[in-house]
Order: sequence, then C-alpha cells, then structure tokens
Amino acid sequence: MTIQIQNKEEYENIYNRSVNDPEGFWGEMADTFQWKKKWNKVCQWEFDTPDVKWFVGGELNITENCLDRHVATKGDQVALLWEPNEPDAPALSYTYKELLAEVCKCANALKEMGVGKGDRVCFYMPMVPELAIAVLACARIGAIHSVVFAGFSAQALADRIIDAQAKMVICSDFNRRGQKFIPVKQVVDDALALGVDCVEKVIVSTLDSENTTVKLTGDKEVWWHDVVNHQADTCPAETMSSEDMLFILYTSGSTGKPKGVVHTCGGYMVYTCFSFRNVFQYKDGDIYWCTADIGWITGHSYIIYGPLLAGATTMMFEGVPTYPDAGRFWEICEKHKVNQFYTAPTAIRALMAKGDHFPEQYDLSRLKVLGTVGEPINAEAWHWYNDKIGKGNAPIVDTWWQTETGGIMISNLGGITEGKPCFATYPLPGIQPCLVDKDGVEVSGNDVEGLLCIKHPWPSMIRTTYGDHNRCKQVYFSAFAGKYFTGDGARRDEHGRYRIIGRVDDVINVSGHRIGTAEVENAINEHDAIIESAVVGYPHDIKGQGIYAYVITDGSIDDEAAFHKELNKVVTQFIGPIAKPDVVQVVPGLPKTRSGKIMRRILRKIASGETSNLGDVSTLLNPEVVQAVMDGAKK
Ligand code: WT7
Repeated sequence: MTIQIQNKEEYENIYNRSVNDPEGFWGEMADTFQWKKKWNKVCQWEFDTPDVKWFVGGELNITENCLDRHVATKGDQVALLWEPNEPDAPALSYTYKELLAEVCKCANALKEMGVGKGDRVCFYMPMVPELAIAVLACARIGAIHSVVFAGFSAQALADRIIDAQAKMVICSDFNRRGQKFIPVKQVVDDALALGVDCVEKVIVSTLDSENTTVKLTGDKEVWWHDVVNHQADTCPAETMSSEDMLFILYTSGSTGKPKGVVHTCGGYMVYTCFSFRNVFQYKDGDIYWCTADIGWITGHSYIIYGPLLAGATTMMFEGVPTYPDAGRFWEICEKHKVNQFYTAPTAIRALMAKGDHFPEQYDLSRLKVLGTVGEPINAEAWHWYNDKIGKGNAPIVDTWWQTETGGIMISNLGGITEGKPCFATYPLPGIQPCLVDKDGVEVSGNDVEGLLCIKHPWPSMIRTTYGDHNRCKQVYFSAFAGKYFTGDGARRDEHGRYRIIGRVDDVINVSGHRIGTAEVENAINEHDAIIESAVVGYPHDIKGQGIYAYVITDGSIDDEAAFHKELNKVVTQFIGPIAKPDVVQVVPGLPKTRSGKIMRRILRKIASGETSNLGDVSTLLNPEVVQAVMDGAKK
C-alpha cells in the first residue's frame, strides 16, 4: 500500500526526497499498485508544448486497483456507503466484492451496447450509487467518462456532449434534492434536441422502476435495470496504457466555453491514492465522507478513485445539507460513525448561520479529520468548524487544488503537520509550488505574495484540454515559461506556509463552483434588451463570491426586478441556476480602456462596495461613467 506519512519529520524527509529525486520517489509509490506491465520511464516532460507523461510504457487498469486487488484481502468490507435524500429511507452499502460485481455487470452492459475503449460516455446524474458504478464500469472497459454536474442546463449539457462527441449518455429519471424533485431525463431530452447527433444510446436509471412517471421512447433509450441486471458479474479489465485517457471533466476558464480537462490512467491513480491516504490519514476501518458532488473533480478524486484505491469505506450522499433541517450532515456523521469529513467552506458558512443547536444535538466524537476545499475559508468559518464540529480534537485540512491538478496539492496532513487558520500550509510531497511576479520573475524568500505556479510535473496533472491542445498550452503553460500557472494568487508566510488568496483571472468561485465571467456575459447577452454586459465577482457572506452583472440596455426596461428575473432565466437556460447573477445593475456605460477593453478592476471594486481607491481612471476612454456606475451601485 502507498506510504502513509506518520509525523512531521517524516514529511520533511519525504518531501525533500521527492524534490531531489522525483523519479525515484514516484517510481516507489507506483510500485505499490497492480500493473499489468511495468513502466520503463517514470516521467518524461516538457512544459512548453506541453507534453507530460508519467509511468511511460506502463499498463494497468485503474479498477483492478480500486476493486479486484482489495477483494482478496477485504472483500467483505464496505467499499461504498450510500445515504439517501430521505432520512428515513434505508442507506445502501456495497462491499468490495459486491461493488466489483456491480461494476462488471454495468461494464458488460456497456460493451453489449457497443461502447468500447476510447469511446466517450457522458453522465448527467444525481448522487446515486449507479453513478459511481457506471463511472467505474467505463474505466473497466477503457471508455472515457465525462460527468456533467446535474445542475447544468440542457444547453450546457449539449455543449459538453458535442465537444466530447459522446456516444452514450447515462442519466436518471429524476433527481431528489431536499424537497425538490428534478426531472433529469427531461433535461437530457432537451439537450439531445439541441443539435446533438453523436449519441447512440441513453441509459436511464431509476430508484423506483415500478412507479416512475418517465416513459422511454424509441430504441435509443433503455432502462438501466433492463440492460444491467441480467449481466454476468465478472468482466475482464481492459488493458490501458498509463497515458490513455481516463476521463474528461469540463471546467470554466476566463475566456470562451468550458474546457474539457483530460486526466490519464497511471499518474492519476498513483496521485489520488497517495494524496488521499496522506491528507486524510485514513486508517483501516474508518468511515470517510466527502460531501462533494461527483460532477466536480472533488467527487472524482475523493469520493470514487482516491478512497477506493486506498481500500477505504467511502460514503456518498444523495441529498442536501439543509434537508430535512440544517442538522442533516451532523446527523449522518453520527449515524454512520464518520471519521473523516470533507466539505466546502460555503456549506460550513451556510450551516454556521443556522445556529449551533444543530451540531450540538449529535455525537460527533468519532470525527478525526475535517477537510475543506474549493475556495478560501474565512477565519470565522474555520473556527466554527474547528470548535463546534471538531470540538478542537479534529484537525482541519485546508486542501488547495484544482480540476486541472487532479489531486490535492497544498494542504496540511491531518494530525501530522500543523494547520493554520486560512492557510493551506505546505505542499504535498512531489509538489513544487512557487510564486512569481507579473513579469514571471520568481519571488523568493518568505513573507511574500505572488502568482502561484508549479515548477515540476506531478503525476495527476492535466495532460490536455480535450480536442484543443493549444488551449491547454495557452491557458496553463504560456503565461510563465517553464511553469504551470494556476490562476491563483497566494501568500507565503514567514514559515513558508501558503495561503491561497483567490483567482487573479476572470473566474469567479461561487459556492466553490467555478464560473467564467465570459460565460455568464454570453448568456446575459442573449436577452433582447442587452446591448453589453460585464460580470464580476464580489464578496458574498455565504457563497464566498457572488455574481454582479453590469448591463447596458436598449432603454426598454422599466421594471428592474422583473428584468433581473428575465436575466436569471436566460442564464439558467444557457448555463444553469448556479450562474444566476445575484446583483444586476443597469448602467449608462462601462469603463473602458482606450483600446476598448472593459476595466474589470474598477467594476470589481465598485461591486465590493469600495467608493474610494478606484485607482487611476484618467487613462480611461470614458472616465465619466465611473461616477455614474458608482452612483447606481447596489449594495
Ligand atoms: C479553484 C479551483 C479542487 C476542488 C474544488 C475546486 C479555489 C480550491 C481551495 C482552498 C482556497 C481554493 C482556487 C482554485 N480553491 N481549493 N483550499 N483554498 N482556494 O476545483 O473548480 O477546479 O476550482 O478553487 O481558486 O484555483 P475547481
């Protein structure tokens, strides 16, 4: 089994080793997995192109490492625990043996339906066990999964299906979230009607095959239970090269459409397992729960792959933190005796706002490590999490990473290296962060700030953006030669610990969800009355960042509240409800540079309530609009 660091000194030694001899170090880590054929070179890389390969020449199947190899030693241990939306409905559990059987059945169904190695399968599903099972089934047969968060709209789903040229869509009939009953299959129907012609089959799962109101039409659509249940429960694991694609996951950037981040088999396997074991300090018999949705990278790496590779018991939750009330997370922690709990600052803040009496009702004494991810955690939320949930006994791991990094990059290791409120602290072994100034000059020493880059490849890093390698190069490897640029600003304190300040590009982080301002603008611009728009983020008490839209209209708007609702509707149509603007301000003009570029810096300041220190506005093409925008600011 992959190494688990036991104390601070060992961390330091291993870190130094990983930097001085990365190939030796990662070769040893990779040796703890089951390979069909050993690699002949640990790492081969070049950042300019970029061209990064790990465990070159190696062959494996990640599901043999997630499942088969554990069946021999812990076949009857629970691999996947599932807690349903309804608190009084029964939880489900799958042992390693059972999960392997279910994955094989699904894999056989996929094969029977013509899905093979290299084909793309798109998922649009709630948090039900079938999602994890089918994702692993794809990996079993070498098909590439592309999971789309089920909160995205039909249009957003269609864009992603088309970009990946997916041959199959796997969805459910409905999504039950709290008291909402969301018609998932309907969204898929709507998406497929938007000019999608690559999809040959749609598999629909249901939690209630007797009573579902969804009716399938045509021979394209099949029920999960009709195609999966009768299959044989063994299926050979396809031989994959280390660098074969494992999955695509779409994420937003500062420009254009979301891009498909590509991860590959070998390196992703080694790093997600390594980081899971070390950050969460999972011990045999522990129950681990990450509340993320599998539609995001956190769910891929730390609900499915990392924990299963490590032979852990991983829990998946169908519902929401506030149903039936704001004690649900803590009730589940007590009920399933959760030992490691991993969530997002936005959830912590939302639950903190509901009062201490919710966590106080439950026995949280089994919690050993608490995790946070997705956005900077503010001091107040950190302390509440530490005091009211961990009772001072469960170290908080503040894990900084990205869809593109595949796994946790900077974090303290639970109980092993010390945390510090609002600091992700130190890099994991093998990770070499650095700070640069805007000219790309490395900022050395401590107690400094800069743009966060990574100097050396790590096994689970992004390989390409699907179908557009040049975009990968432009976005991540061109800003600063020879370095991967994260898009984040960071500070390094006097002891070399990192604090992530936030995005320095036009990406907003709303409740831990990444949204590109350009995407929201494009959606808003679809409204007939819009001449031009500019979208920025602003500090929001619960969501971390809210969405502030400045819009120039054709003058036809007289009811601003109704207009805001209409804009919400178009944004929901083109992206999904997560991208709805919190604030809409109609402005007479937008501050622009002489070359016509919108000065977002000024708009960001106004949106966050600043009325002075707007910086130099004299170089603007239209300095007079600044006052007008300020006068109309909504706060
Ligand atoms: C962006 C990546 C990684 C899984 C969830 C988000 C921000 C992430 C932290 C943290 C401060 C954080 C960064 C990063 N972020 N973790 N612990 N502290 N900021 O993945 O959607 O790819 O977003 O989330 O700004 O660049 P993502």
